[in-house]
Amino acid sequence: MRKNIVAGNWKMNNDLAETQELISDLKKQMVKEPNATVMVAPTFTNLYEAFQSLKDTPVVVAAQNMHQNASGAYTGEISANMLKSVGVETVILGHSERRAYFNETNELLAEKVDAALENNMTIIFCFGEELEDRKAEKHFDLVASQLKESLYHLPKESWKNIILAYEPVWAIGTGETASPEQAQEMHAFVRKNVADKFGEEVAEDVSILYGGSVKPANAKEIFANKDVDGGLIGGASLKAADFLEIVNAF
Ligand code: PGA
Repeated sequence: MRKNIVAGNWKMNNDLAETQELISDLKKQMVKEPNATVMVAPTFTNLYEAFQSLKDTPVVVAAQNMHQNASGAYTGEISANMLKSVGVETVILGHSERRAYFNETNELLAEKVDAALENNMTIIFCFGEELEDRKAEKHFDLVASQLKESLYHLPKESWKNIILAYEPVWAIGTGETASPEQAQEMHAFVRKNVADKFGEEVAEDVSILYGGSVKPANAKEIFANKDVDGGLIGGASLKAADFLEIVNAF
């Protein structure tokens, strides 16, 4: 069932004490029953603490990445099972920063997607074009191939564990936001693309989040679009008041 979701991607920010403070602010300031599912993605080292302090709240704790293999000689990596062992059942995959700085390809992401699903995790799958792609009017093709190469091998049933997040790279951390019309246009394209491959029901049920410089000031008009089901929030998720204002934009 399609849900409204607002997820905070804390990226490589906040040590343990800062994480505790942000979580405590969120708990104090959050309304009892927000109109959206709220998720936060702290760094690996703070996942255990975050899960423990949020387990009696509706806030879902997600990881920002994971490795595709179950265990073994992969120095510095974290597996799905390790995440699950600290209570984390949701993972962000394919963020543009992972693609750009850590060479994550569509093919590798397909493996990570499979590993997460084998562990019955929920995936926030990120995709989106760079500015040059948009200028060259290749953004629809590019997004279609990102989806196809990482997700379209899945059986229909797996889609209940997938959340999509359209994040145009030119709008991430730049203060530049896609206009509500640009967001709606791409989200409608994505939903149609999913429908063509997996049928109307899957397409109607999948939540498609928008990410890229979402702030309290623009969240309402972005979320008002019929195919935008929420946001993946970077910078503005690091202050409880701003993040919750975005949550309350629903
Ligand atoms: P931003 O980041 O909100 O700081 O633009 C969004 C993201 O990278 O998920």
